[in-house]
Amino acid sequence: MTETSVADYQDLIQSRRVIICCGTGGVGKTTTSAATAVAAAQAGKRAAVVTIDPAKRLADALGIAELDNTPRLIDGPWPGSLSALMLDTKSTFDEVVRRHAHDDAQAEKIIGNRFYRNVSGTLSGTQDYMAVEKLNELHDSGDYDLVVVDTPPTRDALAFLEAPKLLSRLLDNPIYRIVTAPNRGPFKVINTAAQQVLRQLARVVGATVVDEAVAFFQAFEGMEDGFRDRANATLELLGDDRTAFVLVASPRADTIDEARYFLRRLHRAELDASAVVVNRMLPQLSTTPERAAELVGALAGSAAGPAAQALADLTATATGDDLRVAELQDAAPDALTVRVPMLPDDVHDIDGLAEIARLLTKSRGGQTPA
Ligand SMILES: Nc1ncnc2c1ncn2[C@@H]1O[C@H](COP(=O)(O)OP(=O)(O)OP(=O)(O)O)[C@@H](O)[C@H]1O
Ligand SMILES: [Mg+2]
Repeated sequence: MTETSVADYQDLIQSRRVIICCGTGGVGKTTTSAATAVAAAQAGKRAAVVTIDPAKRLADALGIAELDNTPRLIDGPWPGSLSALMLDTKSTFDEVVRRHAHDDAQAEKIIGNRFYRNVSGTLSGTQDYMAVEKLNELHDSGDYDLVVVDTPPTRDALAFLEAPKLLSRLLDNPIYRIVTAPNRGPFKVINTAAQQVLRQLARVVGATVVDEAVAFFQAFEGMEDGFRDRANATLELLGDDRTAFVLVASPRADTIDEARYFLRRLHRAELDASAVVVNRMLPQLSTTPERAAELVGALAGSAAGPAAQALADLTATATGDDLRVAELQDAAPDALTVRVPMLPDDVHDIDGLAEIARLLTKSRGGQTPA
């Protein structure tokens, strides 16, 4: 287990090189990731945010038409810099192949292969794998002090911890084992027994598919070690204290349950959440539930009755929210808890992100002042 305790959100931004925002769908991962990168740029850092946001909400919020697979510099009133990019799984996979290939010819042979094109787009876990690849690449480039990663909305948002194992799954493919069988001779001739297996496979899935797969694995040969070393380096980066996990949740019952599941999942992977961001908290009310109930009684039947009831409902929800957040805090006692209120509008521009950044960083020592 790594030492992940931080005094406040500013400390988190100052002390880490990678921040990964995870959580269930719709809680505000993309918003929190972008706001964290904005806060880092405000603190003078060279920050990059990698998003996996097909809805392009981040691009909209950053005020640009679209983001792509290469970092784009976003102008803003900060002493540091902010770059943003949207993960393109396919191009990232191609970049990875180019990086590990011995020469251009090997890379092009793979990238042009139909089996590869199919696999690189459809194999489950590919997106997670490419997200960690991208984060590793940005981190390694030395161009950024902090890389913030937005994760996709899956229940298993930690799937990317498994991502580097994707390669082993790919290499479990029977065709790969046949192609790389030790007795196949110097000219990549496939031995007779193996040929028979391939012929049988061809009968089931079609000869072209098998030919393409054979060509792919032949072209891929010799690149496994590079891939594997890289996967190990990535796991190391994710696992040590250069990296922090920020769990984003909302105070609603279902997402609190999901958040607790994530905490357990992190724990099982011997990791900790450094911060829990509870997003979209109701505004603090000055009325207690008891006082609201009194008002409902006193104003029943009057024109103000419905308003008193609405206030009572709101205080009840807010009290329930506070209780659930306290439970979540108990489940992650070492994590910094940051409450971010619900803003009157969606976060759709730099000002909105800067406001979330301000709310994130105003917390001190685990307490967020009202
Ligand atoms: N504190 C907030 N106040 C008001 N609106 C918010 C707040 N946080 C996020 N939003 C809005 O809620 C919506 C969902 O947020 P966001 O896209 O960040 O969630 P997400 O977790 O990334 O969603 P998904 O799982 O679909 O990727 C967006 O329209 C965003 O602008
Ligand atoms: Mg998102």
